[in-house]
Amino acid sequence: MSRKILVLPGDGIGPEITAEAVKILNACRDAGLDIVLEEGLVGGAGFDAFDEPLPAETLDMAKAADAILLGAVGGPKWDKLEDIGKRPEKGLLGLRKNLNLFGNLRPALLYPQLAEASSLKPEVVSGLDIMIVRELTGGIYFGQPRGIEERDGQRVGFNTYVYSEAEIERIGRVAFEMAQKRNGRLCSVDKANVLEVTMLWREVMERLSADYPDVELSHMYVDNAAMQLVRAPKQFDVIVTGNMFGDILSDAAAMLTGSIGMLPSASLNENGQGMYEPCHGSAPDIAGQGLANPLATILSVAMMLRYTLNETALAERIERAVGNVLDQGLRTADIAYAGTRKVTTAEMGDAVLEAFRAQR
Ligand code: IPM
Ligand code: MG
Repeated sequence: MSRKILVLPGDGIGPEITAEAVKILNACRDAGLDIVLEEGLVGGAGFDAFDEPLPAETLDMAKAADAILLGAVGGPKWDKLEDIGKRPEKGLLGLRKNLNLFGNLRPALLYPQLAEASSLKPEVVSGLDIMIVRELTGGIYFGQPRGIEERDGQRVGFNTYVYSEAEIERIGRVAFEMAQKRNGRLCSVDKANVLEVTMLWREVMERLSADYPDVELSHMYVDNAAMQLVRAPKQFDVIVTGNMFGDILSDAAAMLTGSIGMLPSASLNENGQGMYEPCHGSAPDIAGQGLANPLATILSVAMMLRYTLNETALAERIERAVGNVLDQGLRTADIAYAGTRKVTTAEMGDAVLEAFRAQR
């Protein structure tokens, strides 16, 4: 049976970058992959058409899909919306929550060709290969109660940072298994010196480690982890952390690799269904100008092939194609430097397509 892929371009640069990734998906189909593609609206695009960042029709299509490819959501046009429930970001968070996509994989891999593009010295980042496992459907992003209300004559804003043992355990298992497949080292990041919720987090990780004797577990406070990521990032193999810490640390880790425009992500539920998206945002300031880097989205297709569609050979073929294009010296604006050839979003996508097709 054909597998269904829902494409949700979203806002800002979302449509341009997903268009390039769809070229690669079509090339995979030409190469024999049995897939059907559908398209839907989410984020600001969903709000403009249906007054909802996550239209019911989109959610239904998402539930029925094997995998979702998402561009990015958000932009200044919708930032003024008073009702936070109508903001584009709610479309993304709603998809994650409704599909129970609790396991977010964010690899930070430095392509050797891009060592120059990193803001850190080449010796600090060369060979960098980290996997951040971020919990995606709990923590302070979703905790109740939340809101802004009047108390004693002044407005107060509040959110709740909450994790159950079961939530910690299931993301912990994803991370331990990931470490087993990699270099056997797992660093759990928390703030157990201050926050009870992360004391429990640490306790559960400790307990789980008995089931994975081949994985070396360590713990680090989040402030130190932020520092270590820019001081000596190669000490990390797999990092596991909660929703908000993972959001922040993954942006920092992304930049080590030269550009956040290079980093894909996967968000998985217990059935292997997944949503795949670049780690970067909708970059409204450069939308529509052909400046965006489509590689993170193209590499997200590779993750989709690996984690949901079980097509490792095709995933590797895409990753090799990206490597070839970087070898040729082609660079979008975010990763360009002297001696390389600056190309547009579409030129980059076409070059990857050509390099993909050239491999048989
Ligand atoms: C991310 C993004 C989202 C998040 C935003 C757009 C809601 O920053 O995927 O990292 O905070 O999770
Ligand atoms: Mg983020």
